[in-house]
This record gives sequence, C-alpha cells and structure tokens, in this order.
Amino acid sequence: MGSTRREFLNQCLKGVSASALLEGRKGFAVWQLAGQPPEWYRSPAVRRFIDPLPIPKKMQPHSIRENMVHYRVRMMEFRKSLHSELPPAMLWGYEGQYPGPVFEAMRGKPVQVEWQNDLPLRHLFTVDPHLHGCAPPVPAVRTVPHLHGSRTDSMSDGLPENWFTPGHAAVYRYPNDQVAATLWYHDHAIGITRLNVYAGLSGFYLLRDSREPAMGLPSGDYELPMVLQDRSVDEHGQLVYRPTFDDGSQAHAGLWGPQFFGDLPIINGAIYPYLEVEPRQYRLRMLNASNSRFFNLYFNLASTPTDIPRLVKFHQIGSDGGLLPSPALLEHLLLAPAERADLVVDFSGLEGKIVTLSNNAPAPFPGWDVLNSLHAPLLELMQFRVTRPLALTGTFSLPPSIAFPTPDPGQSVRTRDFLLSDQMDSKGRSQKMLINGKGYDAPTTEFPRLGTQETWRFINTTDDAHPIHLHLVQFRVLERQGYDGPTLTLRGEVRLLGKPRPPAAIETGWKDTAVVMPGEVLSLLVRFEGFTGKYVYHCHVAEHEDNDMMRPFEVVSANQEHSPQAGKRLPL
Ligand code: C2O
Ligand code: CU
Ligand code: CU
Repeated sequence: MGSTRREFLNQCLKGVSASALLEGRKGFAVWQLAGQPPEWYRSPAVRRFIDPLPIPKKMQPHSIRENMVHYRVRMMEFRKSLHSELPPAMLWGYEGQYPGPVFEAMRGKPVQVEWQNDLPLRHLFTVDPHLHGCAPPVPAVRTVPHLHGSRTDSMSDGLPENWFTPGHAAVYRYPNDQVAATLWYHDHAIGITRLNVYAGLSGFYLLRDSREPAMGLPSGDYELPMVLQDRSVDEHGQLVYRPTFDDGSQAHAGLWGPQFFGDLPIINGAIYPYLEVEPRQYRLRMLNASNSRFFNLYFNLASTPTDIPRLVKFHQIGSDGGLLPSPALLEHLLLAPAERADLVVDFSGLEGKIVTLSNNAPAPFPGWDVLNSLHAPLLELMQFRVTRPLALTGTFSLPPSIAFPTPDPGQSVRTRDFLLSDQMDSKGRSQKMLINGKGYDAPTTEFPRLGTQETWRFINTTDDAHPIHLHLVQFRVLERQGYDGPTLTLRGEVRLLGKPRPPAAIETGWKDTAVVMPGEVLSLLVRFEGFTGKYVYHCHVAEHEDNDMMRPFEVVSANQEHSPQAGKRLPL
C-alpha cells in the first residue's frame, strides 16, 4: 500500500518544480517560440470614477421563531448595470443583489438560513464537463452556499457536493459561536465555484459581539463593507469569463483555464466607483472576492497612477477571523482571494483631496516581470473624494490591544505535509493543480481529532502563490521558510532552508486563508474545534479549487483512530 518513490518522482516531474528547472520559466519559453505574446481581452472603454460606490443592503430576517432569527435567501437571476455607460448585465445574486445583502449577526445568537435556488435552468457561463463533478447528466445549474470563516456543523457547511438545483432549497444553521469577524458567504458547488461566484454569488456576513460598541470604532455610515473584484464585460455590458494560461493565451471557449483576470475593477458591484467622504476616520471592511487576482492595495494622493505615489498610511485592525492583537500601521496591504482586512483609514486633514485606492500586484501573482504585460494590470480601483463636511464632531478610536497567546508548536500533536503541484502539458500550460498528487475525489487521508492542534505545512512547488483555506477553523500562522528542491524531488522529504520567517503583524491574529509563495513552506497551527465531520481545505484561487486543488478532511472524535498519513515521507 501507499505510493512508491517512482510514483513520487513521476508526480514531481509532471509538476512545475522539476520542469521549470529543466526548461526555464514556463510560458516564457512558449511565447518566445510562438513569436508574439498574445493580447489580453479588453473590455469596452468606460469613464472612470463617474458612478458612486454602492453600499450593499442589510439582509432582512424572515421571521423570529423560538428565539432564533430565520432568514430566507433566494438565489436569483436579474439585470443590473455595472457602470452607467454600460447596458444592464445579466447577473446571479442572493436576493437578486450583487454583491449579496450583508448579514449582521451577533456572537452567541445562532441563526437559521433557508437558501433557495430560484435560478433558471441555463447557466450564465459554459460549464466545462471535464472537471470533477460536472459531467452530464449532472445539471449545469447547481448551487451550495458556504459561510467562509465560520465554525459550522458539517451538515450546514455547504460542502461542494451538497449542491441543489433550481426549485430546491437547503436549511443551514450558523452557531455564531466564535470571535466577532468579517465573514463572507459564497457559492461552493463542485467544479463550478469559479463560475457561480463570478456570476455574482457572494456577500458579507459581519459577526459582531457585545464588546465592539464600546471600542469607539467608526460605525454606521462610517463603516463600509467593500467587496473587491475584477470583471470583464462585452460591448453589451455582459460579463465575459475568459480564463487564461500563464503565457496569456486563452483557454478554448468553455474550457477550464488556470486563472481568470478581468480588466476592470469592480467594487460592491460598480466598475471604477467613487465615494464622497468626510475628513475623518472610516472603517473599511475589505474582502477580495476575485477568482484569481491578488491585490496589493495602497491609498494614493497622486493624481495619476504613473505619478510618484503619495501614500496615505492606514491601520489594519482585523484579519479574516477577528481583531488583530493590536492595530498595524501600513502603507501597502496584500490581499489574496478570500482574505479579508478590517481597516481604519483617516481622511482628516485631506479636505478637498482625492485619494485613489490603488493596486500594484502583478497578475498572476507573484508573476515574472517578463510576463506582466500579458494580463491586465489594475492600477486604480476607486476614488475617495474628501468633499463632505463633517457631519458630527468627535473622533473615533482604534481598538485596544488584545491578549493573544503566542502560537506554541509544542502543542501540536502531529505535522501533516501538503505538496502543491501544477500538472503541465507539453507547452507548459497548466492542466490541473493537485495536493499531494491527489484531487478532490481521492479518498480522505486526513482525520484530525476533535480538540487537538496540528501543524499543517503547505509546500509550494508551483510558480503561483496559493491562498490556502481551511473550512471549520480559524488558525494561526506559525512561519514561512524555503525548502531544498532536490531533496524533495529525490527523497520525498521536506528539508527546510534558510531562516524561518515569522508572520507579519497583520497575520498574528486569527486567519482562515493564508498565502504560500512559490518555493516556500507555509506552516499553520490549527486547532480542530467545535464539530466532528467532513470538511474541505483548498486553494482559494477559484480556478485552482475547481480543478483540483481541494481535498476533504474529517474531524474525528477524540477516541477514534484514523491515521493513514504516518511517517515522514510525503504520501505521493
Ligand atoms: Cu471561501 Cu471553501 O471557501
Ligand atoms: Cu470556507
Ligand atoms: Cu492556487
């Protein structure tokens, strides 16, 4: 039983780590051979900063029964213009809104949601029947909502295969039994998550607690949920989903490609919006809900993206799973797909000025300079115009420091290693992404025990950064470190290299998504708490997750024995 070294070597040789060493950078060689780099898709030109930033509505409860708030949320197809110069786009949204309405939940007060699929029978985009779980007769239109970051029973978690079709519904219960945090909900149907989320199925779920009001944070009109995404549209204003390979070439129509980069920024469902603000502090709850795009955000006073930037510093006060141990003063913020950042930005003293929310992250991330021109950069996202008079006096405050125990790897009962690989064809184009050589359908190999802590190490042998997400838990980032490639390739062992890097200040709180860079090992300390049962972990680049960088895990009760992943050799 188990895998041989030869199988392991085969896996590695198919992956990019080995092939990149042998052939040089993938993609680069390809377009050198082909002559011209391909052009990225261009949406029709639209004027920037002419539409106000939409503020998502609050989700309205349907009823209160036995002391529990019940919601009924319909997924619907509807039309809405994404920019005032464009005709309305056909979209999918929760309650017919894009992004979906914002849930306001209170710690300790569970809620129940009846999620109802009222979508038509025809998908907005072409489903690739080759991906797992997508082959006919499986219907094209399937949905299953997941509350990302929540500690939820497996039955209510929204597992990828628990999808339901138009005319059907699922009733999920969310305990809200965790630290107040910026959670979000989105579709998770197997093999089509990228299409369903791209169509518009995502929204915020703000979990609050009774301590927060006393902190004096910006609230009410001064607290803004912001969903950052990229989209492409055609001349009729309709969404265009055209995935690409790293060399910029497009996947064949309707077929999977390893990443999608839209050439337009869209915030809360509006392309290049602006917001008029008062010269005071605002709390911006940001979510990167893009399929593949990373944002490296900064607030810029310079009038064009090519001027020397004049930065407005800001505080990050919270991450995925709640407030940070203490606020961090930042100039730039890297936000990978699915990550959230709770920010306080101070516009006081900037009366009459325009602050542009800007981005300089390459696509793909971290990319290589030589290929950067192959995908649309999004240098500007939206404008904050400091044009409103102060409507109330007094100032807000930053949250106090919170006692956070230093994560102690000594508490970990075992270490599990996960090797991320990219399966390439002969042209160096990705065919699928795997974890330990396995896709989602391979039998479960990870059975952590309820109430224990484990170290999960993600070893990235690919050229892309991957935002790794685990369901059920909020974890701590332990460190990042390099590894020795040949030892991994030849002996299937992880030999760490160089100095371990402790997490940056903004990663010292609770996280449910963390980035592993190429050539790195990311170590997480994870406590499996709350529920036994089946969950998933995956890369949150939606294209990677759909094919096939996602695996199940099952939390078992303390006295159950399951440990297929024994020994040090990587199970490939
Ligand atoms: Cu954002 Cu598996 O989820
Ligand atoms: Cu999740
Ligand atoms: Cu990935």
